[in-house]
Amino acid sequence: MLEKINETTDFLRSKGFIDPDAGIVLGTGLGGLTAKMENCTELDYRVIPHFPVSTVEGHEGKLIYGELGKKKIVAMKGRFHFYEGYGPEQMSLPVRVLKYLGIKCLFLSNASGGLNPDFRIGDIMIITDHINLLPNPLIGHNDDRIGARFPDMGEAYDKYLINKALLIADKHGIRVHKGIYLSTSGPTFETPAEYKYFRIIGADAVGMSTTPEVILARHMNLPVFAVSIITDLGVEGKIEYTTHQSVIEEAAKTEDRMTTLMTDMIASL
Ligand code: HPA
Repeated sequence: MLEKINETTDFLRSKGFIDPDAGIVLGTGLGGLTAKMENCTELDYRVIPHFPVSTVEGHEGKLIYGELGKKKIVAMKGRFHFYEGYGPEQMSLPVRVLKYLGIKCLFLSNASGGLNPDFRIGDIMIITDHINLLPNPLIGHNDDRIGARFPDMGEAYDKYLINKALLIADKHGIRVHKGIYLSTSGPTFETPAEYKYFRIIGADAVGMSTTPEVILARHMNLPVFAVSIITDLGVEGKIEYTTHQSVIEEAAKTEDRMTTLMTDMIASL
């Protein structure tokens, strides 16, 4: 694994991906943040050695290096999900490569279904903890040079970054919640009974991504900040017919707020 990581990292450095300050994984409908980046180099996942290729509409499949708020960042426009059929090794490589390129923090965003009855469609939830019901991406051989066999998950989401985000949201008048994100494999959305169950076991929002990337980042001691956009509601009496298209459309409506929040977060590093 480490050999592949090094090969990919060397390739990206040769293309100018030098010393990025932060990495960001852009979830459904949030690709617009890259429009704010300057002096960009874009590479299709297809041309990057060992990179999987994303198969989902709304997830383009590009790695973009550039500047945002005077910081150098690498953005993954398009992520990899277990429901696409990737195994732990394919899921692991991109996040590990970002770390080996030198990022100091990993920023993540996703679209999710709101379970907390106080949430509205279009709200932003800062993730403070998670319940991972996806396969763990660390299953299999552990390379101790990358991280410990049994990583601690007591503080998976960086408290300092969460507090900073709350201040930035307040400054811009952006409504945000804090909450617990639960990941399922998908690709089905939940039945009403499943939404209810996930609420009962403690989740505020449910989605099909993010926790693998958080686990991989924490395995390497990389600080993480993650946000969910609430694109539909899994609350009794408020459940509506959900499609990938409706999720993309609702996520797109929060793009300006999300971009403001993420840009200020990265600028303040
Ligand atoms: N469930 C799971 N994943 C999702 C949802 C949802 O309701 N909305 C967006 N992604």
